[in-house]
Amino acid sequence: MTQYEYSFTRYLAAKKSVDNRAINRHVRQVLLESLPQTSANQPLRVLEMGAGIGTMIERMLEWDLFSCADYTAIDTQTENIQHAQRRLLTWATQNGYQAAERIDGLTIGGEGVEVHTKLIEVDLFDFITDQQYFGTYDLLVAHAFLDLVDIPETLPQIFNLGRKESLFYFTINYDELTILEPIIDQDFDHHVLKLYHRTMNDRIRDGKRFGDSRTGRHLFEHIQISGGQILAAGSSDWFVFPGSGGYPQDEAFFLHFIIHTIYQALNKHPELDASQFEEWIRQRHAQIERQELIYIAHQLDYVGMTQRN
Ligand SMILES: C[S@@+](CC[C@H](N)C(=O)[O-])C[C@H]1O[C@@H](n2cnc3c(N)ncnc32)[C@H](O)[C@@H]1O
Repeated sequence: MTQYEYSFTRYLAAKKSVDNRAINRHVRQVLLESLPQTSANQPLRVLEMGAGIGTMIERMLEWDLFSCADYTAIDTQTENIQHAQRRLLTWATQNGYQAAERIDGLTIGGEGVEVHTKLIEVDLFDFITDQQYFGTYDLLVAHAFLDLVDIPETLPQIFNLGRKESLFYFTINYDELTILEPIIDQDFDHHVLKLYHRTMNDRIRDGKRFGDSRTGRHLFEHIQISGGQILAAGSSDWFVFPGSGGYPQDEAFFLHFIIHTIYQALNKHPELDASQFEEWIRQRHAQIERQELIYIAHQLDYVGMTQRN
């Protein structure tokens, strides 16, 4: 596959079925039980940060999590936001909803359902700085996102976006365990993954470190220090394997993308033999083509409440 063909929006679309299997059912059930009743006059105000192409909006409607909501989805990438608008329109129509496009999002309606989505291309940090959103939301959502920010610094600011009492739902938080089977070379496999995790911990933005390969477990403490109360937590591991018909849906592409991400992170790494690494990457892609590769990534989900004074 050429560089160009590793489309991020296709990766996020392919990830949906993997995430659907992984999301922790108990944590989701506690979220469902904790949500207030909604109506057209009293919609649930949701903020999703790093929303990508909007698959969580689809998922929440598929789960019947709420019937009436004002759902703000933010992401830094123009392409994601534009893709989300188009994709949601198609998804809504295919799923028996009426969808009306607005300039900044779309309204999805159906029997007892009225969800106004607002898709905004903005950096979370600018969104936070813009004080108008302070104290606005009933539910704060971050899905496969928090490992991209400096959590101790950012989490209290995220909680400030919630109303006096609000819920948070933080899912697919990576927790430093990747399993790729079959093994190619025990020591080299281990070395590659160790360096890969190190790249997650060494990310620098504005001269400051951010990112954490152990976001999953560390969130437990960070949530509490930031004033959140955890109502439920549990694992949400990705597990991708070929069935009798091969990998489901577009999950072969998902796997190729994961291997390519490891390649990009470690290409020309001084602690890796370049030709051995190139060969390792080639073999991993070949394992996917032969429908041999099994991929497991350990992740954790959390649901909880925040209270502001
Ligand atoms: C791993 S993707 C997950 C996307 C989506 N939640 C999903 O799981 O399909 C992380 C997303 O966060 C977005 N992102 C990264 N940093 C951001 C920031 N500071 N503010 C808003 N979005 C950000 C990226 O553009 C990307 O779409």
